Amino acid sequence: MSEGRRRSWAEPYKIKVVEPVRVTTREERRTALDEAGWNTFLLKSREVTIDLLTDSGTSAMSDKQWAGMMVGDEAYAGSENFYHLEKAIQDIYGYPFVVPTHQGRAAEHIISRILIKAGDIIPGNMYFTTTRLHQELAGGTFVDVIVDEAHEPANEYPFKGDVDLEKLDRVVSEHGAEKIPYISLATTVNMAGGQPVSLKNLKALHEYCAGKKIPIYLDKTRIAENAYFIQQNEEGYADHSVAEIVREICSHTEGAWMSAKKDALVNIGGYLVTRDEEVFEQARNLVVVYEGLHTYGGLAGRDMEAMAIGMRESVDPDHIRARVEQVRYLGHKIASEGVPIVRPVGGHAVFLDARTFLDHLDQEEFPAQRLAAEIYLEGGVRSMERGIVSAGRDPETGENRRVKLELVRLTIPRRVYTQSHMDVVAETVWEVWDRRREIKGLEMVHEPKYLRFFQARFEPKA
Ligand SMILES: Cc1ncc(COP(=O)(O)O)c(C=O)c1O
Repeated sequence: MSEGRRRSWAEPYKIKVVEPVRVTTREERRTALDEAGWNTFLLKSREVTIDLLTDSGTSAMSDKQWAGMMVGDEAYAGSENFYHLEKAIQDIYGYPFVVPTHQGRAAEHIISRILIKAGDIIPGNMYFTTTRLHQELAGGTFVDVIVDEAHEPANEYPFKGDVDLEKLDRVVSEHGAEKIPYISLATTVNMAGGQPVSLKNLKALHEYCAGKKIPIYLDKTRIAENAYFIQQNEEGYADHSVAEIVREICSHTEGAWMSAKKDALVNIGGYLVTRDEEVFEQARNLVVVYEGLHTYGGLAGRDMEAMAIGMRESVDPDHIRARVEQVRYLGHKIASEGVPIVRPVGGHAVFLDARTFLDHLDQEEFPAQRLAAEIYLEGGVRSMERGIVSAGRDPETGENRRVKLELVRLTIPRRVYTQSHMDVVAETVWEVWDRRREIKGLEMVHEPKYLRFFQARFEPKA
């Protein structure tokens, strides 16, 4: 809260350990880009000065989490740390049954195998890359039922993650509720720009789904950030704590998966949770096939301890406020020079609207991919593409999915960078903005079959 002349806020921590970063020359960065096929995922970390590729597994752990690493119980079965993790999940989110996995997509794999049959339809509030792929590999088809506002970068609607219940009802009427094993709901919605779902919408969705006997499964990878937006912007929640709102969100769902590498402030980890004992029984059996025993799921004991502690820290009011406000600070600063960004600024990243930024390029010239590369070339700042490359090809037609949102994501790791890093990032983006008319497109010269954005290679057009 500001008092009198005090308007600024500071990061709610002191820095105890530092990791030096390298500053490179433009020539070095140009060589690095050529070697990386103009894909920022293929750059080496040592070639990057400020790394905003992702907020996944890149957080700084607290002293308490590091202390937790020292009490890892590395027993193959029944590790003490598993029980700490289970208890933390039950306390914070309220789900009774827990299956740990090494990261989020492993939990997506398991839940998709359990719930989806060939020919099923999975409606959700915008696709996520790995989530949709696992749904497709299990024989399902994802259908987007997010509100239209989510596809409009300049639209200021505060809850762009909401489900459009009329769209959903049309899908249910067309295919029948028995073809819909679950609703795939995400808080916040990564691909829409880190946009939250409102509790009003979730309650209405829950009521609708209860009537049709369709369970809601939640991707709660960034649930604390979603809860902060509800507290700040949804009527009736200003006096609720983020922890209370997180618990309430979960109460409207049957189960969830989480990539703990985001909100939960760890470098590795994930899990699946459910209220359905039968699903739990199948999940703890399948996890043995793909991950490891059901009391470690591909993790070391120390990883589970750090996760249990990080989860509690994720709902701390000072932490979550500083986290989301730092992202907002960067977004407003970048936009202050007229650079088009997704509005409102989301919870984990600032998304540049590459379609408008480089409006002289066709989408098949990969404007967002090129823009991410140019930002790296300009200032050693690594970001990533979220547009036509990430969307991949339609499995039936083989055509590129020409998604409406063609974005570059500047993703902020938690507790890692300071405001002055944010200032340098904004200035770097402004430099690219000033020379935007000279920027040409890319040609894709190597295209992997799955999740192509990770490993595709490009060449700049002359
Ligand atoms: C919303 C969302 N769901 C699932 C995942 C997959 O999690 P992981 O990277 O831990 O496998 C991610 C990671 O990027 C994500 O952002």
